Amino acid sequence: MNNAIGKVFLFLLLVLGTFLLIGNTVTNLTGGEKKASGKVEISPEGGESIFWGKGRCFTCHSLGDEGSAVRCPNLGQFGEKFLMPIGERASERAIERSEKTGKHYTATDYLIESLAKPDAYIVDGYKNEMAIVYAPPISLNLDEIKAVISYLQSQGGDMDMDAINNPGEIGQKYYARIEAATAAGGGDPGNGEEMYIDNCIDCHILKGEGDEVGPDLSNISQKGLKFISESILFPAKKITEGYETYIAIEKDGRKHVGVKTSETATEVELIKATGEAITLLKGELKEITLDKGASLMPVDLTEALTVKDYQDILAYLMMQKQAADGER
Ligand code: HEC
Ligand code: HEC
Repeated sequence: MNNAIGKVFLFLLLVLGTFLLIGNTVTNLTGGEKKASGKVEISPEGGESIFWGKGRCFTCHSLGDEGSAVRCPNLGQFGEKFLMPIGERASERAIERSEKTGKHYTATDYLIESLAKPDAYIVDGYKNEMAIVYAPPISLNLDEIKAVISYLQSQGGDMDMDAINNPGEIGQKYYARIEAATAAGGGDPGNGEEMYIDNCIDCHILKGEGDEVGPDLSNISQKGLKFISESILFPAKKITEGYETYIAIEKDGRKHVGVKTSETATEVELIKATGEAITLLKGELKEITLDKGASLMPVDLTEALTVKDYQDILAYLMMQKQAADGER
């Protein structure tokens, strides 16, 4: 037990260490003030400075003859492979994406998607190796991403600042993804989803999938980052109402631990950490007691996760918002 707690603290230290390394997120986590400096203008000029600077795009992409990177798609007009610069190319890609998905993509939607979820469309001849630019170490925020998009669009495309600032449904969804990741201190929700499926889905329902040992997480972003991160690091710190742990001891000595899912005059139903539901006859119970301060959620979950995985799960959970609550 002590050992498990020690490990959680070690993990926590690593988490804090990472926050310090990536800078301003500590103030985010503690709800501190926003940094005024370094705010980028949402314009092609602002985007240009991100592209060749903080965004690190230049380490993988060249733009026509500018830059020296060769291993990723050239974003300018270049050779036989790239007959159009990215602003113009985006319109072609949008047609491809519309045909593939059955949804209507604009050129702006394509550019947003290429940054928000690079694996949605892989440029022919390349691998899924594009960085998640809103996750550490690059950690662009939404304004910086909008600026980069306007820069890309200015490369031979029809500049549409209105569409960049207020895109349609496809773009809005991706913006929400980026905002959630930023709110969580940066993270890759795509990897977060995989980690969530590996470690959490046996006990939680999300979008109708999973098992209901613990609370439904479909709307969990409403509870805020601090609450979510504490729920994972210290499950027992605050037990969610209705999910208290009970210990039932039968007259023959058998012991059962679980969350109470129903109770009648004669029966109690518990769901165990394994997801197994059991019905106990009250007449056969010696006692049933509330185990105050204990959660059925394991305290050592973080042992299976790297700090990055944990951060990615946070980013993924910060995205979970039900449409009824006004998905923009
Ligand atoms: C680690 C390398 C890497 C970094 C950093 C990187 N990219 Fe990429 N990018 C790729 C690779 C690889 C592809 C091709 C695979 C794909 O389509 O996902 C790609 C694809 C793209 C595409 C789609 C191109 C097309 O022809 O449709 C765009 C747009 C793009 N990147 C923009 C950016 C921007 C803007 C940045 C900086 C904010 C950036 N990338 C940072 C590797 C990178
Ligand atoms: C063995 C079952 C189990 C596993 C595995 C599990 N949880 Fe839980 N979780 C629970 C239970 C039971 C509760 C309610 C009791 C409590 O508050 O601790 C809970 C509560 C939570 C809450 C608070 C929800 C709310 O609305 O108050 C969050 C957030 C959460 N879990 C996230 C996770 C994440 C993320 C993972 C995977 C890394 C995970 N859980 C894995 C059982 C589990």
